Amino acid sequence: MRPTRKNVLLIEDNEDHALLISRQLKDPNYGITLNRADSLSTAKAFLTGAKVDAILLDLYLPDSQGLETVTLVVKDHPMIPVIVLTSLNDERVALDALQHGAQDYLCKDELNGKMLFRAIRYSIERNRLIGIKDEFISTVSHELRTPLTSINGSLSLIVAEASAEQTMESALDLVKVAQRNCERLVRLVNDLLDIQKMEAGKYGITTEPVELVSLIKQAIESNAGYAHKYRVDLKFEADVQESWVTGDADKLSQVMSNLLSNAEKFSPKGSVVLVQLGSLETAARVSVADKGKGIPEALQSYLFEKFTQVDSSTRREKGGTGLGLSICKRIIELHGGQIGFSSTIGKGTTFSFELPVIAAPVDESVL
Ligand SMILES: Nc1ncnc2c1ncn2[C@@H]1O[C@H](COP(=O)(O)OP(=O)(O)O)[C@@H](O)[C@H]1O
Ligand SMILES: [Mg+2]
Repeated sequence: MRPTRKNVLLIEDNEDHALLISRQLKDPNYGITLNRADSLSTAKAFLTGAKVDAILLDLYLPDSQGLETVTLVVKDHPMIPVIVLTSLNDERVALDALQHGAQDYLCKDELNGKMLFRAIRYSIERNRLIGIKDEFISTVSHELRTPLTSINGSLSLIVAEASAEQTMESALDLVKVAQRNCERLVRLVNDLLDIQKMEAGKYGITTEPVELVSLIKQAIESNAGYAHKYRVDLKFEADVQESWVTGDADKLSQVMSNLLSNAEKFSPKGSVVLVQLGSLETAARVSVADKGKGIPEALQSYLFEKFTQVDSSTRREKGGTGLGLSICKRIIELHGGQIGFSSTIGKGTTFSFELPVIAAPVDESVL
């Protein structure tokens, strides 16, 4: 996919330097539109009206000098990465600029187009990842707080009712609320630990024969409560009686569970989520299709990255951390399979994965 054009603002008062940099970034393959401001005040005016992806900043401007320049730019535009342009003898200042919020620095005397382009691209990507991580921390805090609040609420009520000697029945309902929320917390913490293990290269799977038809049926059964919550019907169709793969039943159930819960939570009320198992020549293909609102094209290439979520309003409403799909991808790949999806806005999304099949194990009890 061709990357979208990036708007870069060069804040530089020296005409010669500005001209040189604009020449160096002219190559159409870089996809960079360069705008220039020759002072901090013109830069500020420009930044209020335009979408800027990165800033190249000279520290010594007619209306601002040194590190203060960085501070003034970053203060008003914390989301735009700033690359400081320095002279050869400015290394110390350049390093201090990083402390003041700049993402990177480049020495003007050593510049060339490729280097500039790479620094710009990296700073934009790094910024995107930092943004995602910040968002993730706020999501996790929310995800931790919601169940904790209701566990705390239920337990407090039980205590109050026990003191007032109320019936055990109403206490049971409250304990169930607390239990459901504990389960949600356990799932969250498990996801975090899985991701952590994956990053440390310590995530593995067991390998034994696993039968997919019954695994899928069980996953559908365990997800029935969630489907009911969203008033969604789960249907299962298989073109085979049984289908065997080698792998880790718990982890494959985890994949099914995430695909099902995603399909359910993004489906309109009253719709059907269709789970299908098909047999290809050497593989089994499992798909989970919903009639939900679909996934915007701009996000599709990031969807299996950890922390990715389409929009924060649905996240607040429906919960989730954006970890599920990245865990699913890893699990399927560890099984020698592949996972993907197709999605049409307004029509729905189908996630599917393929796993290499094996012959059914011989049932010794029948022999
Ligand atoms: N079936 C689907 N329909 C629409 N969007 C989906 C679907 N499945 C996943 N998504 C999008 O992908 C994001 C990431 O999913 P996932 O990694 O499972 O994390 P989580 O469910 O915790 O948000 C979801 O937040 C949602 O925005
Ligand atoms: Mg999910």
